[in-house]
Amino acid sequence: MPLALAFSEAAVATVGFDIDEEKVSALNRSESYIHYFPAERVAAARTGSKGFSASADLSRLGECDVVIMCVPTPLGRHREPDLSFVENTTRSIAATLRPGQLVILESTTYPGTTCGVVKPILEGTGLRCGVDFHLAYSPEREDPGNPDSSLSRIPKLVGGVTPGCLKVAQALYEHVAGGTVPVSSPDIAEAAKLLENIYRAVNIALVNELKILFQRMGIDIWQVIAAAATKPFGFTPFYPGPGPGGHCIPIDPFYLTWRAREFGISTRFIELAGEINTSMPDYVVKRLAGALNERGCAVSGARVLCLGVAYKADVDDIRESASLEIMEILLAQGADVSYHDPYVPRLKRTRRHDLGLASVPLTPETLALADAVLILTPHRCVDYAEVVRHARLVLDTRNVARPSREGGAQILKA
Ligand SMILES: NC(=O)c1ccc[n+]([C@@H]2O[C@H](COP(=O)([O-])OP(=O)(O)OC[C@H]3O[C@@H](n4cnc5c(N)ncnc54)[C@H](O)[C@@H]3O)[C@@H](O)[C@H]2O)c1
Repeated sequence: MPLALAFSEAAVATVGFDIDEEKVSALNRSESYIHYFPAERVAAARTGSKGFSASADLSRLGECDVVIMCVPTPLGRHREPDLSFVENTTRSIAATLRPGQLVILESTTYPGTTCGVVKPILEGTGLRCGVDFHLAYSPEREDPGNPDSSLSRIPKLVGGVTPGCLKVAQALYEHVAGGTVPVSSPDIAEAAKLLENIYRAVNIALVNELKILFQRMGIDIWQVIAAAATKPFGFTPFYPGPGPGGHCIPIDPFYLTWRAREFGISTRFIELAGEINTSMPDYVVKRLAGALNERGCAVSGARVLCLGVAYKADVDDIRESASLEIMEILLAQGADVSYHDPYVPRLKRTRRHDLGLASVPLTPETLALADAVLILTPHRCVDYAEVVRHARLVLDTRNVARPSREGGAQILKA
């Protein structure tokens, strides 16, 4: 959606294709299905000079000079890459491929996908890549919910299958991106995107591990990171939490792990980071159980109010969110779990969770009623001073709760 809107705003005639009819209908009614993209932006694109529209009719792909794929690349049941969305979409593009078209893959994936998976399907039509049609890879660099991060401010990596492919893909992105960065092949661009995400996964795991150690030593990790971050070179701060979520950090690194096995290499940093990060929900529950125990309260039967189910602040995305995992563990242990999230009014079923809960209002009464309030997502619109004022026990995984001068809840970090 952000890419389609950016092209429309640059006066490029744009059609947003999706197999999800609900999204297509919403866009054609000038509605937004991502809360931080205002409906006014969709409406303006719809009525703009080139009249943006959405369609679920993939037989119309041949009408477009450029087709950009931004489809999901999840993991399968055994943590293997699930390229079915990329393959199916490529087949739909191949069905109407014609000379002169440019096809670009933006989905995050392992190096070799554009040349080894997409290209053979497209060339199965008899048309030749670099001669009849062009093909390139350019990774998405989105930072959902961050108002300072728009496509027009972010340099875009572009790797073409041939020098000609690179040239036309770069020319296209110059209309909307904050500059383009050419690289010598799609493999380099695919690998660079994975490096960006693996770098985050590993560094988040590092601070999560240090959090456990420093907590035992009675040292506040948040103060340690703030102190280290004053070094003007050679240090980038990363922050601990209940476990990373979203479509990227918990998933993408394992695309490379899987691919590495084909080359007889085991990617130990990635595996270790995954192990530490996925153990965070258990750690948070253990901390909560300890804090409740000190108050003579068992997890079973305890009323636990979770603040935030989105995987990060100020977004409505619950994919791979650690909050879901934590709530599921607490429910299995007999806790009476409720949640509040201003962006997620009710929990829809996900691939792994079906909790069937709806957000409760955040009132002095709901806060006072809870045996513990667990802060899991640091949404900026939540008044944490109010939370501390009315709650009895606050377990804070995001360092947003501050002691109140008028007493209030006991605050523990997790
Ligand atoms: N969301 C992000 O901020 C972000 C950032 C960087 C990279 N990525 C990467 O971008 C890719 C897409 O992620 P997303 O978060 O936008 O996923 P998403 O699930 O929000 O959106 C993907 C859309 O593709 C549609 N789709 C699936 N198959 C299709 C088909 N055959 N034809 C047309 N549409 C089809 C789905 O219905 C869905 O609406 C992933 O590879 C992800 O890793 C996402």
